[in-house]
Amino acid sequence: MYETILVEKLASRVGLIRLNRPQAMNALNATLMRELMNALKEHDAEPDIGCHVITGSEKAFAAGADIKEMATATPVSMLVGDPISVWDELKKIRKPVLAAVAGVCLGGGCELAMACDMIIAAENAKFGQPEINLGVIPGAGGTQRLTRIVGKAIAMEMVLNNRWLTAPEAAQFGLVNHVYSVETYLDEALKLAAEIASRAPIAIRIAKDCVNKTYEMTLNEGLEYERRSFHFLFSTDDQTEGMDAFVNKRPAQWKGQ
Ligand code: CAA
Repeated sequence: MYETILVEKLASRVGLIRLNRPQAMNALNATLMRELMNALKEHDAEPDIGCHVITGSEKAFAAGADIKEMATATPVSMLVGDPISVWDELKKIRKPVLAAVAGVCLGGGCELAMACDMIIAAENAKFGQPEINLGVIPGAGGTQRLTRIVGKAIAMEMVLNNRWLTAPEAAQFGLVNHVYSVETYLDEALKLAAEIASRAPIAIRIAKDCVNKTYEMTLNEGLEYERRSFHFLFSTDDQTEGMDAFVNKRPAQWKGQ
């Protein structure tokens, strides 16, 4: 069905999407980005899926936007075609999205991983924003999300001077959640995704939304937003079930209602 991605719905309620352009180190061309967003949207609407995982190959998560596709672009073609706008659709995905990253994770690849909710890395993962070598800058969040995550000093070095982070460095700077061997990183990411997918579905969505609001609100606005969201959850069956299960010392059965 898809040309540039492989899609699986796992029994563990995880939607797995593999970027699959091995001939181009999974460079993110327009077709891949459109297919990725379509698959994510389809899984997001699927009741049997509770968490998304995006991965690449052991060699490359993604080597960035497709340079060959971009090389002849003009300001007008960029403005009219607006190739980056498809990336904004990731922000509308309501279930958690994990990136399972091995190999190169560069430019748009790093930006894609950072737009996910968590990153699980293999020991061979390398994170970088090498756009400066092409005479441009990151165009899908690399100067913004990266700086918020790793801080100004490291972000400046990565964006201005093409410093790459190893997986342990990325963990040290808070860019990735966990680092595993190349043999196990995907299984570990799928395990974590399955655990998240087994939790109260409405609370999971609201929790993701509240954490992401940190980027857009002042502390007081965010605290108010969190409190309203917390109040709202008292209208769900899952809140009644979760608290009753705790009180009666039994496992909760979530309905997602
Ligand atoms: N776009 C298009 N094709 C790419 C690509 C990219 N980003 N990255 C790799 N490829 C292609 C190569 O052109 C090559 O194709 P051919 O065999 O047809 O020549 C193939 O993938 C394998 O690549 P290499 O031979 O270069 O493999 P390598 O192991 O020697 O090097 C690499 C791997 C370090 C990732 C190197 O390919 C590289 O530096 N790639 C470019 C990384 C980059 O600059 N990314 C930023 C893109 S701009 C961007 O992302 C903007 C944005 O913010 C949205």
